[in-house]
Amino acid sequence: MTSTHPAAHPALARAVHHASVWLEGLTTRAVNATTSLEALRARLRVPLTRQGVDPERVVDDLAAATEGGLLGSPGGRFFAWVIGGTLPSAIAADWLTSAWDQNSGMYATAPAAAVAEEVVGEWLLDVLDLPRDASFALVTGCQMAHVTALAAARSGVLRDAGWDVERDGLFGAPRIRVLANATRHITIDRALRLLGFGLNAVQPVDTDERGRVTPEALQKALSAGTGPTIVVLAAGDLNTGEFDRFQELIPIAKSAGAWVHVDGAFGLIARASATKRHLLEGVELADSWSTDAHKWLNVPFDSGIAIVRDRDAHRTAMAVHASYLVSSDDVARDEMDWNPEFSRRGRGFALYAALRELGRDGLAQLIDRCCAHCHSIVTGIGALDGAEALWIPELDQGLVRFLDPRSGATEEDHDACTDRIIGAINATGEAFFGGVTWNGRRAMRVSVVNWRTNDSDVARTIEAARHALAGASA
Ligand SMILES: Cc1ncc(COP(=O)(O)O)c(C=O)c1O
Repeated sequence: MTSTHPAAHPALARAVHHASVWLEGLTTRAVNATTSLEALRARLRVPLTRQGVDPERVVDDLAAATEGGLLGSPGGRFFAWVIGGTLPSAIAADWLTSAWDQNSGMYATAPAAAVAEEVVGEWLLDVLDLPRDASFALVTGCQMAHVTALAAARSGVLRDAGWDVERDGLFGAPRIRVLANATRHITIDRALRLLGFGLNAVQPVDTDERGRVTPEALQKALSAGTGPTIVVLAAGDLNTGEFDRFQELIPIAKSAGAWVHVDGAFGLIARASATKRHLLEGVELADSWSTDAHKWLNVPFDSGIAIVRDRDAHRTAMAVHASYLVSSDDVARDEMDWNPEFSRRGRGFALYAALRELGRDGLAQLIDRCCAHCHSIVTGIGALDGAEALWIPELDQGLVRFLDPRSGATEEDHDACTDRIIGAINATGEAFFGGVTWNGRRAMRVSVVNWRTNDSDVARTIEAARHALAGASA
């Protein structure tokens, strides 16, 4: 009989060791990468041997070769892009997912995975308070969640116009208009490209000074045309965390017969917090929603979620049939009927673990804590000499700008100064930020979506910014 003791799997034992060293070092190691591109290439580009290499040596060598080439993004002082951390049970469940290696495309190939996803779907609809009978798919990220949800939207609005897009495609179909928040995320555009809408289908809708679609602009855009229409709104702007005013906008879109899709990559999760929920009032009226588990739910990559009110449209857009497959005939979940993938990872296990570990209160506290830390970092750095808070967050995303101290400095000088100071902070290894051009000017983005970020991280981060500013003016 084969032993299941870890000693029988030295490579796994080595992985546990290296992972522990990595995770424990997150508070002390530099957050930025400290090894050059050339060095990483030289270390990793070893000869591919004929005989292969012992598994434990492969693992040890991999850990050694990547040293200094990994960003400390799972740690508490990484605030670039929107990159969540990883909860301990979610990492462990992710490892088990690999060890179990179930093809989670259907119940027949992975019964436990199908049931775990079924439960995760119920939990998500419950904590996000979305229609409990909505369908869902666990996909690779919000990008593919948009593709999945907008494929359902395409199917639904064309079905209502008397056209079967699954059978007849888009050639000759009634043209679909997509009215979208002018500040939408680029993954919306890519989803529309992949789905054959073409970027010319998009009509950007004007926003107010806070980047929110205005009811007047939406009404005007809707009245300017006819035919199948999809409206795309934002639950959490990438730079500001701002929300469209769903309660006002969605009824306007619905009364014009439009399908409303919401990009809630991180912001939709805020609905699980009693203190932030009011920001998303009315979002439940939409037809489809995209969000991520690898951002604010702190599940390892890659984990996105598509949710669709019209189950028939969703299933019609995705389902596949072949005689060699085993359909569970609606008795159990066959993921491939809802997902764009065929063979796939058992994505539900890590999400199941994260939600159980957090519980309802833990999730709400995670959201509130991240928002409070984001506020402290933006106001703390913004109060330093040579800095200015551009967007003081209500959610978990804020903006800071750094000012060139020379008299007569122009906006372009401040832009260059902002990028310089971001680079200088990152070079300290203490904290890591990204930049963005926002309203035509360079700014530093502050994105806090990690359960690990704590008061000490906030203090160290503000100190790193003070140090970078002092170095720049010296
Ligand atoms: C608002 C928004 N939408 C969509 C995405 C894309 O998400 P993903 O990278 O999971 O595909 C992001 C990523 O940051 C985002 O911030």
